[in-house]
Amino acid sequence: MEKDKEHLDGLPTYTDAVRRPWTNRRPKRRRVFRFIALAFLAYFAYSTYSIARNTKRLGTTLLIEKLREDHSTCASLRRVPVEQTATRDYNKRWVNGTKPLLIRNATIWTGEPAVGTSEEDARLGKGYAWISSDIFVDRGLIQKIAKDISIKSLPVDTAIFEAHGRQLTAGIVDMHSHAGLSSVGDLQDDVNELSGDITPYVQSLDGLDPLQPEIQFIKSGGVTTSLILPGSGNNMGGEAFVVKFAVGKENGRTEISQQDMIADPDRNWRYMKMACGENPKRVYGKYGERGPYSRLGESWEFRHALEQARDYVQSQNEWCAAADNIGPENMATYLPQKLQWESLGAVLRGQVRINTHCYTIPDLEAFVRHTNEFKFRLYAFHHAHQTYLVPEVLKRTWGGTPAAALFADNMYYKVEAYTASEQAGKILYEQGITPTYVSDNPVLNSQHVVFEAAKAYGHGLPYHVALAGVTSAPAELLGMGHRIGKIVETFDADIVVWDSDPLSAGATPVQVWIDGAAQFKDPVELEKPIVPPVTPDVSLGKAVEKKEIKGNAIFTGITHAYLDNVEASYQTTDHAVAIMNNGILSCIGPCLSELLAQDPSTPIVNLTNGYITPPFTAFGSYLGLVEIDAEGDTKDGPPPKEGITRAVNGLSFGGKHLTAAYDHGVTNAITAPNSGSINAKGISVGFKTGAKHRLEKAAIWDDEIALHYVLTLSAKGDQTPSISAAIEMLQAKLLDAIDDLAKNDDSPAAKKDAYDEKAYLRKVVTGSLPLVLTAHSADTIASIIVLKSTIEEAASSSLGIAASKLTIVILGGAESHILATELASASIAIVLAPVFPHAQSWDQRRGLTGAPLTNGTAIDALLDAGVLVGIGVEEVWETRDLGLIAGIAYANSGGRLGFKDALDLAGGNLANMLGLKAVGKKEDWVVWEGSPLEIGGRVRGIGGAGGATVWE
Ligand SMILES: *[C@@H]1O[C@H](CO)[C@@H](O)[C@H](O)[C@H]1NC(C)=O
Ligand SMILES: *[C@@H]1O[C@H](CO)[C@@H](O)[C@H](O)[C@H]1NC(C)=O
Ligand SMILES: *[C@@H]1O[C@H](CO)[C@@H](O)[C@H](O)[C@H]1NC(C)=O
Ligand SMILES: *[C@@H]1O[C@H](CO)[C@@H](O)[C@H](O)[C@H]1NC(C)=O
Repeated sequence: MEKDKEHLDGLPTYTDAVRRPWTNRRPKRRRVFRFIALAFLAYFAYSTYSIARNTKRLGTTLLIEKLREDHSTCASLRRVPVEQTATRDYNKRWVNGTKPLLIRNATIWTGEPAVGTSEEDARLGKGYAWISSDIFVDRGLIQKIAKDISIKSLPVDTAIFEAHGRQLTAGIVDMHSHAGLSSVGDLQDDVNELSGDITPYVQSLDGLDPLQPEIQFIKSGGVTTSLILPGSGNNMGGEAFVVKFAVGKENGRTEISQQDMIADPDRNWRYMKMACGENPKRVYGKYGERGPYSRLGESWEFRHALEQARDYVQSQNEWCAAADNIGPENMATYLPQKLQWESLGAVLRGQVRINTHCYTIPDLEAFVRHTNEFKFRLYAFHHAHQTYLVPEVLKRTWGGTPAAALFADNMYYKVEAYTASEQAGKILYEQGITPTYVSDNPVLNSQHVVFEAAKAYGHGLPYHVALAGVTSAPAELLGMGHRIGKIVETFDADIVVWDSDPLSAGATPVQVWIDGAAQFKDPVELEKPIVPPVTPDVSLGKAVEKKEIKGNAIFTGITHAYLDNVEASYQTTDHAVAIMNNGILSCIGPCLSELLAQDPSTPIVNLTNGYITPPFTAFGSYLGLVEIDAEGDTKDGPPPKEGITRAVNGLSFGGKHLTAAYDHGVTNAITAPNSGSINAKGISVGFKTGAKHRLEKAAIWDDEIALHYVLTLSAKGDQTPSISAAIEMLQAKLLDAIDDLAKNDDSPAAKKDAYDEKAYLRKVVTGSLPLVLTAHSADTIASIIVLKSTIEEAASSSLGIAASKLTIVILGGAESHILATELASASIAIVLAPVFPHAQSWDQRRGLTGAPLTNGTAIDALLDAGVLVGIGVEEVWETRDLGLIAGIAYANSGGRLGFKDALDLAGGNLANMLGLKAVGKKEDWVVWEGSPLEIGGRVRGIGGAGGATVWE
């Protein structure tokens, strides 16, 4: 703040400014001097003349009215935004008529430490606590937070909400979202104005569609407020807007409009998006024609634009200063005004909060230089994957250290994101830099942005900082920290009552209020026990060292075992242990005699609440075939147009994605050849994510698992221009295989033909090889059900196979819930990927986004119908989160899933549906500290025959 003021106070004087444009040119000094002198004289003569002319002949050339208007504009140009901390009688967004509200018996996270907590203690999380309280809301404001507020004291029309002791927080604030800027399935897109690299003059608000369904389902995740940013295609992308997600009468508003969504009707602050690095280069750089072609060019683009804005501001300041001196009536010109540089001018005037997409050190550091050269403040670096490496650089930013707006673990997807850390938030916080967590919706579904904060907590960021990272910290960075992001009397009544601790797996709002108005008319409430909030585990921040172990090791503190041969729970008083012998768990339980037999030098890993489970399996991602998603050289590449390939020949071991998956207990993967995301065509391979290379013992545990095809929208291509063509081509291939077999034409002519698509299709129709079809649309899924019976009938009649069975697994399945019973009777298994869809493509638009908006998600309907279900992921980085995704399904299953059932979603069920004896080796295990299905569960040991990895 101090700096902003200094900037305005230090404006150049009028005469300085007139001279300035010339002083930068330096051909021949004398000539320049003479020229300046002449110019100066001419200018002086001209102004004197025009002032004289204005005074003499009022109104003939310039309108006095407009000159006066321009002069009053000077005041708004000089305005420095300040927080409006004065007591408000009502919230300006409040809709008069909204009933007062009493929320009774809530467990509240206010977001503030107890009164009297020192700053140092607060940093450490001391003084923060959940409090049992009632909360009274009226006129869009939190009026009172107190225990046992008497109803008698409240207006008669007060609505009452019983929280039954559930957790209550401020509405979630996502400071990086593009929600509402593209339509369902991305059919229409208004995120980036790609007509030019420097477009500070465009406004995201112009593209915001209040009726986009995502606004409602994002809010169902507790998100009440978002910064809607233009995209990152341009170095300067345009102005951004903070909006609240209440739209129309259903949400307690009087109208459906963009303007009505604006969080601060006074528009105290403005916001702008900028971006560094690869995006603008790749969008604009054209060799020999236009820039930016490189980061060098990008810095020029920034500086060149800022230079023009600086000149613009200067010309305005000169005008205003002169008008102050001689009176606006006497001015010879109107106030210089140009829409093109208006917003960037406001940036230099300290009225705009800049948020910049920058990942890498060169980008961060160049941008920090720009802030110092042009003296403007940056509030947050977004994406910011390398900020944790250079806190000193960030601290050199002009006007104050920016925050880092991060993903918890979405990384490695491009070169810029390849140096990233799950501990980034923790490290930054220790360095005095604020981490916030954002969705970049639709990159991540903003509905679950609180999950990002939860994972950050799981990776060692203190609990209070993680929760602040999606509430008070972004609120402050948006200049709205005095109004939103906390539960404090006088704040806006944006409130979420959760069904469990917001930083636990599966936390779901029971109800959401914006400015005191309930947002869900008949919210679906998941069946969950009411449990107290999480007790923050400070040991999550403790570093552990990864070690390879041969021989023996002991894990103490085991409380649960879920292996095929041992399923047991232990009390801590049982002092249960697990003893590992050359990678094999030889004893689980008290193991008294076995412990006595151990050598005293046997390493001991002491655990609190230790779990033993089978490893997780990543299915359907392209884990193992890609290292940096956006870089072709780091990938195996797409399958050929004709024919198929086997993924086993494309695997690359030892990469960061594989290591991350392994370190999170995902030690097996089933991967098919890929052209992108979950699309596949070819033969999948089952392998160990922790193997060093293909030839290592048991690295490949099955080189031919299933034959895969794609029937999502990306099936539309050269060979099959339509979905119908793709389905029919597959049907034709399968029928051909039956004909070949019927003609007894199944003996391959050449050895290589055994690896031919036709050979695998023959295995499919005889039921010895599963067919995995990627599909989301319920209609495509219905066609697959028909296809299955067509092929089975043909196989029965032509080949005489009685009750022929084709094994079909559908991967994707966003809309599969619509056909749950049909899928069950057709014995088709589903691997949901994503487990929680958000209409990213047109064929996923009928996916269920969950409570409080929908009654459960696809998995609930499928389980109820008796479909065999597995879980997968869309993007390869998410494979590390399979345990947590299973945990969300478990927590939100309303009792449909037991703990072991949830583990099997990414394990045993996959083996069952693919007809495998097991995924990987039966004797493989993972030891966890804490539940593998819950935030904060950490892998402490992974093993199987031959050895183990231990985290000590
Ligand atoms: C709200 O509406 C009522 C009834 O129309 C009116 O009396 C009251 O003054 C209004 N309150 C505010 C703050 O505008
Ligand atoms: C608050 O809710 C809890 C859980 O339902 C209940 O045990 C308790 O009695 C309630 N307290 C009050 C004051 O209603
Ligand atoms: C584990 O616990 C045992 C028994 O309490 C103790 O002797 C040992 O030092 C602990 N080991 C580690 C590595 O903390
Ligand atoms: C949700 O669906 C279940 C069946 O899956 C049903 O028993 C329940 O009544 C439904 N709840 C609501 C609120 O519709």
